[in-house]
Formats: sequence, C-alpha cells, structure tokens
Amino acid sequence: MEHAILTYQGKTLELPIVEGSEEEKAIDISSLRQATGLITLDVGYQNTGSCTSSITFIDGDKGILRYRGIPIEELAEKASFSEVAYLLIYGNLPTPEEQQIFSKHLTQNSMIHEEMLRFFDGFPPTAHPMAILSTMVNALSVYYTDYYTEDFQGDTFDLMAASLISRIRTIAAYSYKHSIGEPHVYPKRDLKYASNFLYMMFESPVNPYVPDPDIERALSTLLILHADHEQNCSTSTVRLVGSSMVNLYASICAGICALWGPLHGGANQKVIEMLEDIRRNNLSIKDCIASAKDKNSKFRLFGFGHRVYKNYDPRAKILKKYCETIFKKYNYDDPLIHIAMELEEAALKDDFFVERKLYPNVDFYSGILYRMIGIPTNMFTVMFAIGRLPGMIAQWKEMHDAVPLKIGRPRQIYTGSTIRPYVPIGQR
Ligand code: ACO
Repeated sequence: MEHAILTYQGKTLELPIVEGSEEEKAIDISSLRQATGLITLDVGYQNTGSCTSSITFIDGDKGILRYRGIPIEELAEKASFSEVAYLLIYGNLPTPEEQQIFSKHLTQNSMIHEEMLRFFDGFPPTAHPMAILSTMVNALSVYYTDYYTEDFQGDTFDLMAASLISRIRTIAAYSYKHSIGEPHVYPKRDLKYASNFLYMMFESPVNPYVPDPDIERALSTLLILHADHEQNCSTSTVRLVGSSMVNLYASICAGICALWGPLHGGANQKVIEMLEDIRRNNLSIKDCIASAKDKNSKFRLFGFGHRVYKNYDPRAKILKKYCETIFKKYNYDDPLIHIAMELEEAALKDDFFVERKLYPNVDFYSGILYRMIGIPTNMFTVMFAIGRLPGMIAQWKEMHDAVPLKIGRPRQIYTGSTIRPYVPIGQR
C-alpha cells in the first residue's frame, strides 16, 4: 500500500495513503498523535478531509460537480427535484415504484401542525426569514417526535427525511405570507414539489396563482443546483452536530444557521444588495473592482471566489445561461444582470482575480433568477436551504450508516496563559 513517511525527532512514521474513486488522495493521520504526540493544524480546514463520502464529487480545478456520479448539467436539465433528493439520500435514481412511494411520503407530510401556526404570530414582521426557518425546523422536533430514530435504514428514517423535505417548503412559504400579512395557503396534494411551493407563496384570495411550467422548471433547476456540495460549512455543521447523536431536526437547524452567513449561503442576498447598490448610486465597475481588491476596504465581490472551485463554478455557468434563455423567451429584462455581466467581465480580466483564480460562484446569478420568479431578496438564502436539505440529510445518513459512529471533536494548540493563581476581586 502506498504511504507517506513523516520524520520527527529522529523517528519515522509510515502514514497510509487513502485513495478515492476519482484518484483523489489523502494521508491518513489517525495514528499520528499516538505515535508522535503531534496533532495537525489546519485553520479553516483548507486541507483536511473530515470523512470519506460517496455522495458528491467535485473537481474544483476542472469545474466538475456530480451527484452520485451523475453530472450536474444532466440533472439540472432533465431531473425533477424529488428524483435528485432521492438520488442523494438513497444512492440511486428511484424506480417508478420508489418514486411513487417517495412522492406519497412528501405529499402526506406537507402540512405542519396547526398549533405551529401560532409560532409565526410571535415573530416580528421584520424577522429575517432564515431566523424563522431555523427556529421552525427545530420546532418540528417538538411535534414530530415519533420520527426520532436510531434506525437509519428503516421506514422511520424514510418518513423523517420526507417530512423534513416537504415541511421545510411549507414553513418557508408560510413565513413569506406572514411577512406580507396575508393568510397562509395550504399545500395542494396534486402539485409537484416546486409548483406546490410557488402555489403556497403566490396564491391569494384576490389573486389566484397562475401556474407557469417555465417558471416552475426554473425553480426546480435552482433547487437541484443547490442540492448538495459535499463537505461545505453548513453540511459539515450538520455532520458535526449530528455526530453527537442528536436528532435530525436539530442537526439540520444547526446547518441552516451556518448557511445563513454571507460568506456562505447568505452571499446570494448580498450579491443582489451589491448590484442594487451599484445601480442606485451609479457606481463605476472600475471602482467596485478596485474596492474589492483594496485590503483596507470592507467591500468584497460577493458571489465571487470559492474554497474548492479554482475555475468557473459549473452551477454559475448553468444559471447564467438559464437566465439569458428564459429572459429572452419572456422578453424580460433586469438591469442587474447587465451590471453582473459587466462586473464578471471586468473581474475575469483583472490580474488580482486571475492570479487568485476567483470566478463567479453559484450565488452570483441565482438571485437574478429568483427575482424573476418573484422571490423577495431576503428569502434567497431560505431558497438555498430548501434546495440543500436533501444533501444535508444524505450526508447525515451516510455518517450514521458508518460503523462505528465517531463523535466529531477537533483538537487545538493552546496559546493562552500558563498556570497562574486566582486573585480575589479587591486585590486585582
Ligand atoms: N472579492 C475580493 N477578494 C476575494 C474574494 C472576493 N469575493 N474572494 C476571495 N478573495 C481574495 C482574498 O482577499 C484572498 O486574497 P489574499 O490571498 O491576497 O489574501 C484570496 O482571494 C483568497 O481568499 P480567501 O478568503 O482566503 O479564500 P477562502 O477559500 O478562505 O474563501 C470564500 C472562500 C469565503 C468563498 C471567499 O472567496 C469569499 O469571501 N467570497 C465572497 C463571498 C461568497 O460569494 N460566498 C459564497 C461562496 S459559495 C457558497 O458558499 C455557496
């Protein structure tokens, strides 16, 4: 077996090399501390693998993304969101029978307990929808306790997974209705996943929702593009929290909170705010690029750069093309897409961005498409969470399927004071 050799204080240690199915390699350092007393230090986990996984493959240099081996481009064009959810969680595309059962579970678990509606009344209208979403997902653990399970293979898990995927959509739509002061709309059993969400968002007693297959497809595509992205900040949070054996709802709630941050899923809201700011204040693209490069400025080009992609994010490529096609078809224009394209063009020619391999990421164009669909800006990250949920569940299940389950617990190098005595308050 291939191995790496570490020499420390005159002793050598052979560390095995682990190889993945796409020839990615890692040094297995699990024997390191016992053999040498050393730990590894890797702030921000830039080079640290936390697990092996068979769910999603990314080649960041080549701009490749595949779910269970299937290229994202094919899934975005041909699959439904519920098929992709099934693929991620169970490893294969569903057979017609499996799809039927999964869809039935989604439909039967789409309503939330009526008592939970009172929670919405407790939130101020100004509450950020991500705060509401994370709170409500955790609150599901109060109402659906029969779904707590330690059997991660069985029917209970299947119901719990479907319940979360279905109910997160209802919670998101209800929080929107609450924020605009309209009555909530119950899900309809004959609508598919994305259509049902749009129906619950936009149906009202005075303005009935008119289904549009292109818009419904656009939303499905957006959800599919967000469905998993291996060990990112929020998914790793789900794994870390879940490794304590807490229930799935609590683990997902933690993941949603991690996703909210502007360096992660919250970037989609920041991108649109940035583009709007440029438009409103008539800022020049040249000045924006200069500010993004200026280390003394707080301005970052949101929607640009990625820890893993050092090439064009394939999801951004799909979304940019999708926006262009659907805008043309609908004869729809959004000044923000022109600003985004100008910014992209200028950044991709600029040495600072070229040297650091900074390209548009998934968040750069997603907001422009959400705007066309009619989703308000402060709900963009909620949309990301709905899309990402199947991936989070799949990763949680994969971790629990592994035997033995290891609680996640990183180490540290302590840099504080060495031992010193307690001094009573009057003598300090
Ligand atoms: N604008 C300007 N400069 C940037 C940007 C950006 N968007 N992104 C990275 N850089 C620069 C950094 O200043 C740094 O420069 P330096 O080497 O001179 O110090 C270099 O590029 C590397 O950047 P890091 O922040 O160290 O890269 P890291 O891998 O830690 O962070 C991240 C990746 C957080 C995505 C970063 O690129 C970023 O902040 N982008 C903007 C926010 C964003 O779009 N987030 C969404 C990411 S996709 C997702 O999570 C769904």
